Amino acid sequence: MVMLRLTAEQYRKLPILANESTCSGKTYIVTGSNSGLGLETARHLVEYSASCVVLAVRNLAAGEYAKKDIEKSTGRNGVVEVWHLDMASYASVRTFAKKASTELDRIDGLVANAGVMLDTWSTAEGMETSVTANVTNTLFLGALMMPKLSESGRKFGIQPTLVFIVSVLGYTAKSEIDKIRGGSIFDGLNDQKRANMDQRYALTKLVEECAVRQFAALCPVKRTGVIVNMVAPGLCSTGLGRDARTFTKIMHEMIRAMMARTAEVGSRTILHGLVAGEESHGKLLSGCKIKEYWVPDWVSNAEGQRLQKDIWKELVARLEEVQPGCISQLP
Ligand SMILES: NC(=O)c1ccc[n+]([C@@H]2O[C@H](COP(=O)([O-])OP(=O)(O)OC[C@H]3O[C@@H](n4cnc5c(N)ncnc54)[C@H](OP(=O)(O)O)[C@@H]3O)[C@@H](O)[C@H]2O)c1
Repeated sequence: MVMLRLTAEQYRKLPILANESTCSGKTYIVTGSNSGLGLETARHLVEYSASCVVLAVRNLAAGEYAKKDIEKSTGRNGVVEVWHLDMASYASVRTFAKKASTELDRIDGLVANAGVMLDTWSTAEGMETSVTANVTNTLFLGALMMPKLSESGRKFGIQPTLVFIVSVLGYTAKSEIDKIRGGSIFDGLNDQKRANMDQRYALTKLVEECAVRQFAALCPVKRTGVIVNMVAPGLCSTGLGRDARTFTKIMHEMIRAMMARTAEVGSRTILHGLVAGEESHGKLLSGCKIKEYWVPDWVSNAEGQRLQKDIWKELVARLEEVQPGCISQLP
């Protein structure tokens, strides 16, 4: 059902809901912003007079190239900064979060956009790489940045927003998650023999969404002052899947050619996430609207909530081992 809705929505014209009055003088971080949706989101933020936009990238040369491109197209220099962040490494996430927390005066918005679609097995930090990058380290970064986001809210009388970029493709991974639900979910995700790598990207996006739902539930805006939401940008023509094998690549290229948005149009959904306000907390946004009614029952009902809690419990155990207190001492 949700895929039918998504298909119909692909052709709808999307508004640009951010503007000078929402972005002027503000500071943003966008991860994975040397290309695709992240790059176009950063470009819009610079265009709308943000005072600082950090491109958090794993390849500094690609980041510098993106910076020049943004400066050329917007005519604004001295706004973009390029910082290193490798989402496949705990140490890199930790170093980045420390730098951002100490060197930036304030953070108005953090877009956790970096993501990868891999269909061959590799590992990073002892887990299959796309689980580490799309799930574990994405939530690790969000958790490590919460104190600074919260502090920015108090100090400047603002409501900072933490936007996670998810995908409705995640909802196609029900049978994959069901296969590993009996025992430890992360051990199941890390079982190469049982892994269906053609569905791996979708599965990581489902697990990411479940974890973010629990994270948002445990961090109410009333206590933290921070809005946490999830944006599904729809099918967009970007570099995603460039590392995939030929079959996956061809399938994605065919589907994209038929119905994909440009990266710029897709970035409008992310801008919406940044301005959607308190009512978007813990919710799925897509097509520049709150789309909780898209979320399948098996994600939102009691069974889904149990799944979220199970995923969260295992994730917390892992992250607390990497950095004690990163979750238990959240603001
Ligand atoms: N395109 C779509 O149709 C679509 C639909 C739904 C959701 N999304 C989500 O949108 C987000 C952005 O993807 P995109 O479509 O714009 O694809 P993209 O052009 O491939 O951008 C992905 C970005 O993430 C970065 N990245 C990947 N692994 C990383 C790592 N280990 N550390 C740091 N950065 C890393 C990439 O850096 P490199 O250039 O160095 O690889 C790139 O900048 C992803 O989370 C994706 O899951 C996309």
